[in-house]
Amino acid sequence: MGDLREHPNAIGTAVEEFLRMESSNQLGNRRAATDAVLGDISIKAGSYLHICIGAANRDPGQFTDPDRLDIHRQPNRHLAFGTGIHACAGMSLARMEAQVAVSRLLQRFSRIEPSAAPVRGGRARFRGFISYPVRLGA
Ligand code: HEM
Repeated sequence: MGDLREHPNAIGTAVEEFLRMESSNQLGNRRAATDAVLGDISIKAGSYLHICIGAANRDPGQFTDPDRLDIHRQPNRHLAFGTGIHACAGMSLARMEAQVAVSRLLQRFSRIEPSAAPVRGGRARFRGFISYPVRLGA
């Protein structure tokens, strides 16, 4: 993570990659307003759709080596905040909070390393950790 401290936009780029890899909202829902065709799938008007944001964000057709965390990945056209007119209304705040949190952690500690196995929340829609123990070095 050392080079995150050196390049002005590096933290913003890294945050986008964290959003892609660990999208906190893994599923979206839509109801088709009209008949539609998506790729080779026909969708009838009125159908309920479950949209797999997490899978889209690991799509090998869109992302090279999608299961690898690449904090320099650009472009990074992830869908962690959804898309269209109902895209996340709080995305700018969420991005800013993450950038501030990461930059303050890096300012405060020169070493941050895992100290025990992390525990995932285990929910299908919302992805995250119940605990992620780390050892911090000043
Ligand atoms: C990492 C943090 C966050 C993630 C990953 C996230 C993700 C999402 C996603 C995937 C949607 C659905 C978009 C769609 O249906 O196309 C959504 C909607 C929404 N989010 Fe967030 N969100 C986050 C933080 C926030 C925050 C901090 C706020 C408010 C301060 C917020 C407010 C909203 C609202 C109001 C909607 C509904 C928008 C609409 O239906 O028009 N979100 N978010």
